[in-house]
Amino acid sequence: MSQERLQAPRGTYDVLPDEAAARAAVEAVARRVLEGAGYRRIETPAFEQTELFARGVGASTDIVRKEMYSFDDGSGRSLTLRPEGTAPVVRAYVEHGMHKLPQPVKHWYLGPFFRAERPQAGRFRQFWQVGAEAIGAEDPAVDAELIVLLASILQELEVTGVRLRIASLGTPAARAAYRDELRAHLRAHEERLSVDVRDRIDLNPLRAFDADDPGTRAVMETAPRLLDHLSQEDAEHFAAVRALIAAAGVVYEVDPTLVRGLDYYTRTVFEFTSDALGAQSGVGGGGRYDGLVELVGGAATPGCGWAAGIERIRLAAVTQPVAEPPVDLFVGLAGTDARPPAFALADEARRARLAAQLELAGRSLKGQLRHAGRLGARYVAIVDGAGVTQLRDMDSGAQEELSSGEVVARILRERGMA
Ligand code: HAM
Repeated sequence: MSQERLQAPRGTYDVLPDEAAARAAVEAVARRVLEGAGYRRIETPAFEQTELFARGVGASTDIVRKEMYSFDDGSGRSLTLRPEGTAPVVRAYVEHGMHKLPQPVKHWYLGPFFRAERPQAGRFRQFWQVGAEAIGAEDPAVDAELIVLLASILQELEVTGVRLRIASLGTPAARAAYRDELRAHLRAHEERLSVDVRDRIDLNPLRAFDADDPGTRAVMETAPRLLDHLSQEDAEHFAAVRALIAAAGVVYEVDPTLVRGLDYYTRTVFEFTSDALGAQSGVGGGGRYDGLVELVGGAATPGCGWAAGIERIRLAAVTQPVAEPPVDLFVGLAGTDARPPAFALADEARRARLAAQLELAGRSLKGQLRHAGRLGARYVAIVDGAGVTQLRDMDSGAQEELSSGEVVARILRERGMA
């Protein structure tokens, strides 16, 4: 009886080799741009204590309220598959005493993240992010540098239809005063709001800017704007960030209604979208988080960063052709008794750093040659049971007889590698 065929869980997918190659190209661009600017790779665990996200991302956010994959580790402690990378990088900064290093400490990362969201085009339950975080400086050049770096990465990858929106959320104190004013506005128009927004007037009134329903949208059109309530210092910081990104030639729009789904932001927030994407148009986003280090137990330290979704980059980017990896040598067999010398030859070639493939499927001699041709092998060695080898140069068609022990040296010599 045949078994039910199993599938990858809903909202997840397999990265097959062609796609993996295209992603490696995305990673290479991100690495070159970020490492060129002094960001060094960091990797944190795929799961963390649930408390880190509850505190860091914020208890009122959708992520913490309903999208975390949390589980008991067997000793009563709650762990969570990381839904984002900023809180973990900040935890690592504190845990490893990185405040003692020259500031800001600049990191980048690339890896899988997990959110129990409703799957749709461009939205997955396991997705990949590339991210960058600069911790330990509040200079507006940090914010601007991060924005410009992400703009360069998206440009190099030929992500189409890119738009950048930015805003400033000011300090927590300015935001608290503003929230009170916004709550009063929402209460005054409560009957026109969606149930979801109404339920969260106390908890998170800012999210009302993010709502899609016409009633809430109409109410938000006349709502007070946080950008008009910034302190002078915050307004100057925001102006400096804008001047720097404009000087770098990066086009942006100030969007006073920009809302990010995480609570840790202070001052600058930004989002890159692509009109090549559907409803899930956010390619990457981030901002400043000057209170986060303290929230996870460190001393008050500013920070800023972003993350971009690899799937959305791939969906919105022009796919560059990725070259097939070269095959220097294909080792074929003239008869099954040739397996030991053929195996030894492939092994010797690999140790000499040649890309070598061995016949593994019992093909006929003709089939082996056809397969080697398909692979684009530069040389084909057909080995017999006595270790006598016919070495064929696939470019010139020249063929000669050698002992299998001579083959690698011959190829290296011909290629100027010996
Ligand atoms: P985020 O906006 O939640 O920010 O996510 C960043 C990017 O990850 C999004 O723009 C999107 O491309 C991608 N993304 C998020 N959720 C999904 C999903 N379910 N499926 C596919 N792609 C998704 C953060 O995560 C912050 N940690 C960014 C940051 C870094 N802020 C400061 N530093």
